[in-house]
Amino acid sequence: MSSSPRRVYLTTPIYYASGEPHIGHAYTTFLADALARYHRQAGASVLFLTGTDEHGQKIQEEATRRGVAPQELCDQMAGRFQEAWQGLEISYDRFIRTTEAEHKAVVRAFVQRLHDRGHIYAAEYEGWYSVHEERFFTEKELGPGQTDPIAGRPVERIREKNWFFRMSAFQEDLVRHIEDHPEWIFPETRRNEVMGFLQKPLEDLSISRPRARLAWGIPLPFDEDHVTYVRVDALVNYLTASGAIRPEAEPAHQGFDTVDADGNLAGSWWPADVHLIGKDILTTHAVYWPTLLLGAGLPLPRRILSHGWWVVGDTKMSKSLGNVVDPLALKERVGADALRWYLLREMPTGSDASYTPERFLTRYEELANVLGNLASRTLSMIVRYRDGVIPAASDDGLAEESSLAIRRFHEAMEALRVNEALGHAMDLARTANGYVEAREPWSQARDPAQAAHLDETLASLARVLVVLAALLLPAMPSRMTELAARLGVGEVPTLDEAPRILLAGAGVAKGLPLFPRLDESVEGGN
Ligand code: MSP
Repeated sequence: MSSSPRRVYLTTPIYYASGEPHIGHAYTTFLADALARYHRQAGASVLFLTGTDEHGQKIQEEATRRGVAPQELCDQMAGRFQEAWQGLEISYDRFIRTTEAEHKAVVRAFVQRLHDRGHIYAAEYEGWYSVHEERFFTEKELGPGQTDPIAGRPVERIREKNWFFRMSAFQEDLVRHIEDHPEWIFPETRRNEVMGFLQKPLEDLSISRPRARLAWGIPLPFDEDHVTYVRVDALVNYLTASGAIRPEAEPAHQGFDTVDADGNLAGSWWPADVHLIGKDILTTHAVYWPTLLLGAGLPLPRRILSHGWWVVGDTKMSKSLGNVVDPLALKERVGADALRWYLLREMPTGSDASYTPERFLTRYEELANVLGNLASRTLSMIVRYRDGVIPAASDDGLAEESSLAIRRFHEAMEALRVNEALGHAMDLARTANGYVEAREPWSQARDPAQAAHLDETLASLARVLVVLAALLLPAMPSRMTELAARLGVGEVPTLDEAPRILLAGAGVAKGLPLFPRLDESVEGGN
């Protein structure tokens, strides 16, 4: 009986088109990429979405500062992100830009839906506005010297008409949803944070800015003098790419639309399986977004993964401090896979982590000394002792360890604990190095009576390397493809196939080290 492939929809935040890609952006994107590759490898049909957030005051001001039109800045920066992601082996399926005509139409249809359903009203608003945070603060929230409490930037007193979404009306439903779905926000610390936030009554959400003050946005369909608040505009990107809202079909599309066998809105990718975000935009994704969706009568995303911050040493990365780590410069020096490995392996999903050249080197050495060493000794022994051909012999010397590693790897990936999944793979490589030491193939090679045992040792090592290539493909696509090629396997097999595919008789190639020693310039630099 055949069933249709599992469908998996993964998203990253859309990054502001006002700044250059840095390792923080790269991290979220690597995580999403590793999950996307993992699911594709298992045969799922995947939509992996990333893109750029191109409206709002931040963009408008950056464009003015550079003396270019906002659209020109966005075109340029969208290109920078696309180049960066291509250079870093990101396998996104769709790169969305919020200035696309399709997205603009979906945003208008979405806010119109909210309006039609009676969840939007207009009111005079007066408060302290921070351009930097693009939001209002109450008097009580302000920092010392009338500054915004987040970035410490100046605020201005503003009184204006705003359109509001009745967010407060959905607070109870949201709390119930979080209580009923303990895994909805991962990790638990972030879930607790959101629950804590929801202890206080929610205020309604301002969803517009007067066009006279901010022209760079999507006009509201029911009041063309106001543009959509950039956070709402940005969140809707996930719907635009999913195909859930077809502006031309509105308003026929009201209420709960039909859901297919996968629980998706018919003919679309919605709801997302995982929204990957940093902890900085947790409230936006775990409170604003779901209440907006409830208001529009749409299903909620299945999970939210909120990871921690990369800091440098113990300092926040920031343009003004000049300590931003450029992922492309690092890639030039160490290759995309080593950078992916470091970031994915180092940060426990959910906690903060510190970028330091020392930790980078430690993680790199783990790769070189454990996995690289296992590959190079196995390949060179097959070349030396068996003319480069994988012997036809029992290859189950590490079968149990391999199947345990695969099981744990699956469990960790499904639980979004990517760093742990990679740890299980590396443990298998370590065990395999122990197997080499215990079997002493060099002694077996000296004793003709041990020929069959040597065949088994080499066949088992080739087998474990194929399993490792399959386990580590989502993290290090190019190095693992190379490893599979050296083992004479055309493509990296799936995790189901890796323990079984025929290896006997394959011709191997030793090649240069998979993870060469890094030169001094890397050791010193960050
Ligand atoms: N445009 C909004 C998101 C809208 S999504 C509907 C935005 N953009 S951003 O360019 O500031 O990117 C923020 C995201 O980048 C964070 O949520 C996080 O995923 C990633 N990171 C940016 N700096 C980071 C670190 N220093 N460390 C880890 N990730 C961080 O917010």
